[in-house]
Amino acid sequence: MKALLCERWAHYSELKLVDAPKPVLKPGQVRIAVSHATAGFGQTLVVAGKYQRRPPLPFVPGTEVAGVVREVASDVTAFKPGDRVVAALDWGGYAEEAVATALTTWPVPDGVDLADAVNVPLSYGTSYAALHWRARIRSGETLIVFGAAGGVGLAAVAIGKAAGARVIAVAGSQERIDLAIRHGAAEGVIHGSGDLGRQLKELSGGRGADIVFDPVGGLLFDQALKCTAPEGRILVIGFASGTIPQIPANLLLVKNIEVIGFNLGLYIGWTPVDERVRHAARMAEMVQTLFALIRRGELPPLHADQYPLEDFVRAFDTVVARRSTGRVVLKISS
Ligand SMILES: NC(=O)c1ccc[n+]([C@@H]2O[C@H](COP(=O)([O-])OP(=O)(O)OC[C@H]3O[C@@H](n4cnc5c(N)ncnc54)[C@H](OP(=O)(O)O)[C@@H]3O)[C@@H](O)[C@H]2O)c1
Repeated sequence: MKALLCERWAHYSELKLVDAPKPVLKPGQVRIAVSHATAGFGQTLVVAGKYQRRPPLPFVPGTEVAGVVREVASDVTAFKPGDRVVAALDWGGYAEEAVATALTTWPVPDGVDLADAVNVPLSYGTSYAALHWRARIRSGETLIVFGAAGGVGLAAVAIGKAAGARVIAVAGSQERIDLAIRHGAAEGVIHGSGDLGRQLKELSGGRGADIVFDPVGGLLFDQALKCTAPEGRILVIGFASGTIPQIPANLLLVKNIEVIGFNLGLYIGWTPVDERVRHAARMAEMVQTLFALIRRGELPPLHADQYPLEDFVRAFDTVVARRSTGRVVLKISS
């Protein structure tokens, strides 16, 4: 089968498109004919060996796929060949066939395209679980989203809006703010122009935001501390800026602020102790909720650019150069 292979920790442009053997189906797994896989910033870190989790070399990257079930292990009863599914994988998604544990595979309802469904488990899932499970978002709250035109950021804008929050988007250009507004933000601020923390605080009624969703880190995190309301919450999602912020604990004390770490990996078996069994029911319920919101038109597709697998370098170039919006998708087979 056609697959992208990572032979050593390197820049994504050094991945090799190869003819690889099909992965072996183990107990508890389903084999998926992959139609789409997401190409997020996180995968550029994985292949460079800079992610918190390192697959054994050589490996096929790609952790979020949509497709059709081709085969199931004899102990799997939840799926059958022909089912349309999305799955979170440990790795192995950038290939014509992938195997996933049935616990991290979910059915795609009729009426939802696989190209739209592929973003659900990890991209929409990250934003939903962070905002609902960890930050306990409530209707009427103010939510500031950094990186609001990016993969998890755009998802957070739409999830926040669907939860009844007033969403303020932060992004790098007016065009990117406009996209966030089309996905549910009430307004937006371009970062890099003036005192961002102060502008955001003013837009949040002078008191600050109830929740700040931060997938960027670096200097933006310092602004998050400025624009969070007393008793507010800051969600630490990622470090797209490349800089992990240091937290002055005195500010947390003075403003009664919670800084909340969030790692979707905990719920899908990516932590040193694999906890996917423990969280399977909760994940399944969340994925079902997300699909219900999509079918009701409350969550728009993340409007990703699509590239054929062969064009993976161009796909990742747009992500790293911050030209992409939403989630970029690799089209693998029809
Ligand atoms: N915790 C979790 O469970 C989880 C799950 C998924 C992803 N992540 C992490 O979340 C981060 C974002 O992932 P993603 O897939 O959404 O990436 P993405 O699509 O590339 O979006 C990141 C956004 O960050 C903004 N950005 C980048 N550098 C910046 C800087 N120096 N200053 C200000 N803004 C900057 C860019 O927007 P502008 O150009 O418009 O500013 C870009 O759209 C990554 O670190 C990823 O590993 C974490």
